Amino acid sequence: MPAEHPRIRTFEEYQDAYQRSVENPEQFWSEIAEPFTWRRKWDTVMQADLVGGHNKWFSGAKLNITENCLDRHLEQRGNKLALIWEPNDPKTRGLRYTYRELYQEVCKFANVLHNNGVEKGDRVCLYMPMIPQLAIATLACARIGAVHSVIFAGFSANAIADRINDAQASVVITSDGLDRGAKQIPVKRVVDEALETCPSVRGVIVVEHVGWPVHMQEGRDVWYHDEVAEVEKTCPAEEMEAEDMLFILYTSGSTGKPKGVVHTQAGYMVWTDYTYRNVFQVNENDVYWCTADIGWVTGHSYLLYGPLLAGATTLMFEGVPTFPSPGRYWEVIDKHGVNVFYSSPTAIRSLMAHDINHVLAYSLDSLRVLGSVGEPINEEAWHWYHTHIGKDRCPIVDTWWQTETAGIMISALAGITPSVPARAGLPLPGVQPVLLNQEGQEVEGNDAEGYLAIKQSWPGIIRTTYGDHERCRQTYFGVYPGYYFTGDGARREENGLYRIMGRVDDVINVSGHRFGTAEIENAINQNSHVVESAVVGYPHDVKGQGIYAFVICQDPVDPAEAPRVEASIIETIVAEIGRIAKPDKIQFVSGLPKTRSGKIMRRILRKVAEGETNNLGDTTTLLDPDIVKEIVEGRK
Ligand code: WT7
Repeated sequence: MPAEHPRIRTFEEYQDAYQRSVENPEQFWSEIAEPFTWRRKWDTVMQADLVGGHNKWFSGAKLNITENCLDRHLEQRGNKLALIWEPNDPKTRGLRYTYRELYQEVCKFANVLHNNGVEKGDRVCLYMPMIPQLAIATLACARIGAVHSVIFAGFSANAIADRINDAQASVVITSDGLDRGAKQIPVKRVVDEALETCPSVRGVIVVEHVGWPVHMQEGRDVWYHDEVAEVEKTCPAEEMEAEDMLFILYTSGSTGKPKGVVHTQAGYMVWTDYTYRNVFQVNENDVYWCTADIGWVTGHSYLLYGPLLAGATTLMFEGVPTFPSPGRYWEVIDKHGVNVFYSSPTAIRSLMAHDINHVLAYSLDSLRVLGSVGEPINEEAWHWYHTHIGKDRCPIVDTWWQTETAGIMISALAGITPSVPARAGLPLPGVQPVLLNQEGQEVEGNDAEGYLAIKQSWPGIIRTTYGDHERCRQTYFGVYPGYYFTGDGARREENGLYRIMGRVDDVINVSGHRFGTAEIENAINQNSHVVESAVVGYPHDVKGQGIYAFVICQDPVDPAEAPRVEASIIETIVAEIGRIAKPDKIQFVSGLPKTRSGKIMRRILRKVAEGETNNLGDTTTLLDPDIVKEIVEGRK
């Protein structure tokens, strides 16, 4: 029988846990870690290094995270539902897996991976729709100690190839095709194109999902169903060291190509489980639904690992909020009796825009807790969510965290700590946020603003960026040595509640998807018409931020030609990154506002994109001040 994991139930218990986590983190985390299934316990709890970024947790311990997600639940929860799958099309039959069934499917696929030559430490890339096989294959990698690298199935062939080559993945798991709302994507064809430039890949395992004809390359490609038919239903779990890699997940930064954020076995397990239980306060018979795709960190930590570690029932949805109608989320909630619902401000804002009758058609009686993640939730969206979805009875947890933090850092604990519109709230036990000024000094007291940084290690802290630790050190620990630097600005307001103000670097957050402005510029510059470009984010009603691109072409663009050139540039971006990075606005310009040293003054471009053209600030230091006038006049 699994040992009991205690959970915080009152505000006093939160305060007590927080206090203990600050005073003696090692004692605190050793108690939290105790009830998991360990092959061997740790020698040291915490080795913190916020200067060089060499952070370790539970060193010396041996474990397998899937024994904690699956095996240890079998005795008590073998017949309990682990995974409910809701398909894209409501007319298609869904699927349900008990803990025992999921355990068997994971073991079978783990054996398939072995049969296809995958060994402990190998990197496996997954590029798939939101179907049960994605969850199963991800866990199967963890079972045999392979490192999974899931790539959201909206990225282009070039983006996949970059990620596969960076990780030197040997096997790719994919499907014939994908249904997302009314759209279909020929997933396997995208993978085939990517693999033309990926010499490390020896094998491809293909799930038959939509039934499209695909090209199967002899000696490389095999069918999932053929392979699974021939293997045992059990597979011993590989014994992993605490700091062995569990996964790589690529995310954008302010410079260069996306980097592979690395998380490891023990710390990730303890952190996602602890944060999941305490933030969402999920009860034994609850149905929990996180709407994120497994291709993002939210899907990793709070659709897959967190809920399964806690023995919860997790719902996985293949589709989109507006298909076949904008009532789909609410229909799914009623259909499956969802108690805890975790979604994004973008989804909420896009649904708010539709007739309220799409909501009123459903009871939503089962809901008890609502969550939000990915970007700041504005007050209007918060109130709509609270009133119309939560019927004024469900606390909202606005959870602030990042790919690099592995799990929730600042958030209300549902029903326990304060939930105030537009405030993420208080830090979780184990999290010590600070606000830093430009000089890197801590700003004290409430009603203060600064760069959000964290001054103590926590079990989910980023371990490295794959293949390039120096990049990790510089980005997160080199800015203000001794602190983990988040890249966000924040305010500490009444009662110490944190309000997240958004990125302070050149990262933009579009519908909760993260892009570097340089990454989009590099893509645009690949287009043969283009000489130079500058990309900025601007406030967007639904997406949070929109993408505004200022582009200089080889030859002046004739207004009649503009739509064609624009389409060509968009095509290039879709090929380089994927359709999720399409700019909302492209403005052709003859020059960019640059300083005499040649630096683009993005501040001015941001103001233009925001429409704040009366308040551009000092432009006298520009190389060519006249260009500003042209840009303002041509504003889209
Ligand atoms: C960035 C991290 C965390 C999983 C999804 C995104 C922004 C995230 C919130 C929130 C305000 C938020 C931050 C952060 N962000 N959650 N509740 N309130 N901003 O993960 O792609 O790594 O992006 O998303 O700017 O730095 P990610």
